[in-house]
Amino acid sequence: MCGIAGYIGDKNTPEILVEMLKRLEYRGYDSAGIACISDNSVIVYKDRGVVSEVMDKPDRKQIHSKVGIAHTRWATHGEPSKSNAHPHVDCTGSFVVAHNGIIENYRDLKAELIDKGHRFESDTDTEVIPHLIEELYAGSFEEAFRNSLDKLRGSFAIAAISKNEPDRILIARKDSPLIVGLGDGENFIASDAPAVLPYTKKILILDDFDYGIVSKDQVILKDIQTGNEITRDIHEIQWDITRAEKEGYPHFMLKEIFEEPTAVEDAMKTLHDVEYVAKKLKKYQRIYFLGCGTASYAGLVGKYLLERFSIPSELVLSSEFRYSTVNTVDENCAIIAVSQSGETSDTLASVKAARNRGAYILSIVNVVGSSLTRVSDNVIYTHSGPEIAVASTKAYVGQLTSITLLSIYLAKELGRIQGDYLNEIIDDMHSLPDKIRQILSREDKIKELAEILSEKNIFLYIGRRLNYPTALEGALKIKEVSYVHAEAYPAGELKHGPIALLEAGVPVVAINPNDDLMEKMDSNIQEARSRNATIITVGENCKIETPVTDPMLSPILYIVPLHLFAYHMATSRGLNPDKPRNLAKSVTVE
Ligand code: AGP
Repeated sequence: MCGIAGYIGDKNTPEILVEMLKRLEYRGYDSAGIACISDNSVIVYKDRGVVSEVMDKPDRKQIHSKVGIAHTRWATHGEPSKSNAHPHVDCTGSFVVAHNGIIENYRDLKAELIDKGHRFESDTDTEVIPHLIEELYAGSFEEAFRNSLDKLRGSFAIAAISKNEPDRILIARKDSPLIVGLGDGENFIASDAPAVLPYTKKILILDDFDYGIVSKDQVILKDIQTGNEITRDIHEIQWDITRAEKEGYPHFMLKEIFEEPTAVEDAMKTLHDVEYVAKKLKKYQRIYFLGCGTASYAGLVGKYLLERFSIPSELVLSSEFRYSTVNTVDENCAIIAVSQSGETSDTLASVKAARNRGAYILSIVNVVGSSLTRVSDNVIYTHSGPEIAVASTKAYVGQLTSITLLSIYLAKELGRIQGDYLNEIIDDMHSLPDKIRQILSREDKIKELAEILSEKNIFLYIGRRLNYPTALEGALKIKEVSYVHAEAYPAGELKHGPIALLEAGVPVVAINPNDDLMEKMDSNIQEARSRNATIITVGENCKIETPVTDPMLSPILYIVPLHLFAYHMATSRGLNPDKPRNLAKSVTVE
């Protein structure tokens, strides 16, 4: 996934583009570049490195322009390097392009263009686009741009400028997000809302196969296939820029963990949407949760929650679903797709494949207007606000809250839950934010534990039933941000092999709610302790203490200390948890 930005207006474009890129860096940060038009020539400034390393240099600050595009990269084709950094230029230096996505047929296109004499400077798929425009240019930038799009296969969000027509930026979208920030005598282009928020709250969200001509006073959107003009609703961004800033925290990840109480409160506000979709869900015989990574663990919690009410369902990883499980899908199936970004390629593709087979699609999403919401019959928004850190934390808590509500209201629709218990659970959920705040108030104890264990190079996380996904999420978090190997197992599995890993000092994190399986967990903990493992229990009266709550809500509460623990493991190891190596915030490639 990469970040694209563009500006056209009367202000100093390079400064605005650099600020926009800094707000998009969570989308990718191995190289960065800007391209501006000045005195009828194109100036491209790019290099390997994060935005501040590349852009905060004296010679970059000499560039003055009123129109430009920019890009911060997460490498897919071609290693991180200056030549592979975007934007990319054609042979004549007339057309410049920044792109997010994958051009699947770039090899064929590149071979054809080389046969026609074009010279390439990079190993990227993207570079075929400016050369295509150059090849097809016959006096109209828009026509050459649109005809080029017609030749592309794969996914793209594109911004392009030309020294031949310096009064416009051309944009296009297919399967990668792109928005226009509407200003007064100026307009902004970006992959995501945080980049435009310091300048405007009014945005247009492009849909697939939209392309646009953006000048400083006008935005015209058209259909790539027909060329006909189209209109898109203007959205008002509901949160202010401070929510997309660190606000005094050292890292976005820590700030977003401390927003987890609010994530529960905000997700609880969609109770009516939940009740509405529960009425639609009840008629489906088979329910599949879909997701990747952390989102898939939220779906797995959903599976266990429904089983508490004897409602069968299955969690299938999106990357597996589309190549196998989808063959069993028909109009009797309901898909519950879970995704923070709503842009994850595997989840999008699985949902589209299930939709084509007649399934009902419900998505649980954080980013309003994202691609997944456009292919869903219904959407439950978690309203967690922008999640900038690559490691998902508050969004996971928001997803769990929405999925817990959905489970109890579906149980109610199917007559599987007694009225009083439903009200008790809702009341208990309203008390969760304060219980999470209690956990957060003991951050220093978790920080201390992380410092003690910071040199460990393996962790086991174990849990049962609802808290097996808690173990999975805890293990993933610590892998993602501290690069320490961690495995999660259903606790009952320990003696079937993994226990061989245990020896003196190996840390075992045991998630142990006060429920009917507590004795079983205690046995597993004893098995580990008898191998001199270092046991870290999570629960009431445990090493990592959690307040009393209904075991059904324990996944929401118990993940909070594990998110904090992973964060402090990373910082104890001198790492930046906001920019973990090799990762991007949303995986928009397969
Ligand atoms: C979570 O910390 C990871 N960054 C990753 O597993 C993520 O949850 C996964 O890629 C799914 O992303 P989504 O929720 O935006 O679909």
